[in-house]
Amino acid sequence: MKKSLSDINPLLNHVGEDVMGFLNEIQLKYPKAISFASGRPDEDYFDLKDFSKYFDLYVKTIATSEKKSKLKVLNSLGQYNRTKGIINTLVAKYLYKDERINVKPEDILVTVGTQESFAMAILTLCNRNSDVIIVEDPAYVGITHFSIIAGYQMEPVPVNQDGISLQTLEEKIKYFKTKGKKVKVVYVIPDHQNPTGNSMTLENRHRLLELAMEYDFLILEDNAYSEFIYSGKKSLTLKALDVNKRVIYLRSFSKTLYPSLRLGAMVADQQVLNNGKPEALSDLMAKTKGYLTVNTSSINQAIFGGILIQNNFSLKKMNNEKVLSMKRKRNQLLASLKKWMDVKKFPWAKEISWNIPNGGFFITIYVPFNVTKADVVFCAENHQVIVTPMSFFYLAKGGSNEIRLAFSNIKDHEIESAIKNLATYFKSRITNH
Ligand SMILES: Cc1ncc(COP(=O)(O)O)c(C=O)c1O
Repeated sequence: MKKSLSDINPLLNHVGEDVMGFLNEIQLKYPKAISFASGRPDEDYFDLKDFSKYFDLYVKTIATSEKKSKLKVLNSLGQYNRTKGIINTLVAKYLYKDERINVKPEDILVTVGTQESFAMAILTLCNRNSDVIIVEDPAYVGITHFSIIAGYQMEPVPVNQDGISLQTLEEKIKYFKTKGKKVKVVYVIPDHQNPTGNSMTLENRHRLLELAMEYDFLILEDNAYSEFIYSGKKSLTLKALDVNKRVIYLRSFSKTLYPSLRLGAMVADQQVLNNGKPEALSDLMAKTKGYLTVNTSSINQAIFGGILIQNNFSLKKMNNEKVLSMKRKRNQLLASLKKWMDVKKFPWAKEISWNIPNGGFFITIYVPFNVTKADVVFCAENHQVIVTPMSFFYLAKGGSNEIRLAFSNIKDHEIESAIKNLATYFKSRITNH
């Protein structure tokens, strides 16, 4: 008799749409279509040829400052290493210089990107039976899908033009209390949110911090896009405003540098109770990380360390051109939308609108019809444009009339014709011919 294999974790099938899989497949199937699908950084600004230069600079600097031979430093980079990271002092300087976040190196963990930080934070902090994780809705699927697979209870709270709805947040916290459950963590992307492009106002940032004190929860602040600001003043992060240590700060270097570095930073400077005894949260996170990835690649940390040393601990100047280029793309996208969906010229466009993000990689378009996977395929095949239905990112039912456009990895000269094609598709969908 044939032995059957036992079933896999059934929660894997509770993850809604395989967003990444679907979008990757469609991009491969229609390679000539212009893709607004994924928020990849612009490859024109990857300077991978300089990797070895940065690596060498790090090795030389450490050899000099620690009075070691270069070979000894090199060998240490080939070895297992500190779980919290080896470049924490350099990252602390960077966080202060670029983000006004004042933190001790031992409260930082250098992570394998923000994706690892999500796993570390949730596995370290939350109890599957009694805790609830609140997430913005729509949200970045990296955290929602991880939490589903790992069996944690999540609750969506709508995100609007000013950030997460604080009124709904408060109502939900109270509701869960009546059910004997605790909202332990609230996950937000205050700056240029993925997927909507919206940002939290300063007033709401202060109020969210107050609510965290009032209802005793921790905030997971995902800060992947704040450097990409195109109009107005860069907002202070929640962490920079966090006098009561309620914020765990997650920084990704995938967008500002390169996703292949797989590097992020987590700031966890709070004391928490572990079995009734106070302990540094960063140490507990490190304990979890030890069983996730052991340590973040020392070779990649050395490259990033060299970048920080070379740039005097600030990435602003280095990224200036990149941010300006992204701003041009956003402006061109907005101008093209205005031109090809102008209601005065095109009456069919009267129920189409969009937000105007002041930074980041994404924009939301509102349309008067349901956007499905079939629409994405049809649009790619017949109009050579790939977009993402916003419903992919909702935990609750929502977003059926919304589309996310990611403009970060599109060539400037492709934007207008792609939007013109998209307008043709919208027209055919609205007028039925
Ligand atoms: C909001 C947000 N957080 C985190 C990430 C992923 O970060 P990392 O590559 O550091 O894991 C992304 C990538 O798209 C993102 O949009």
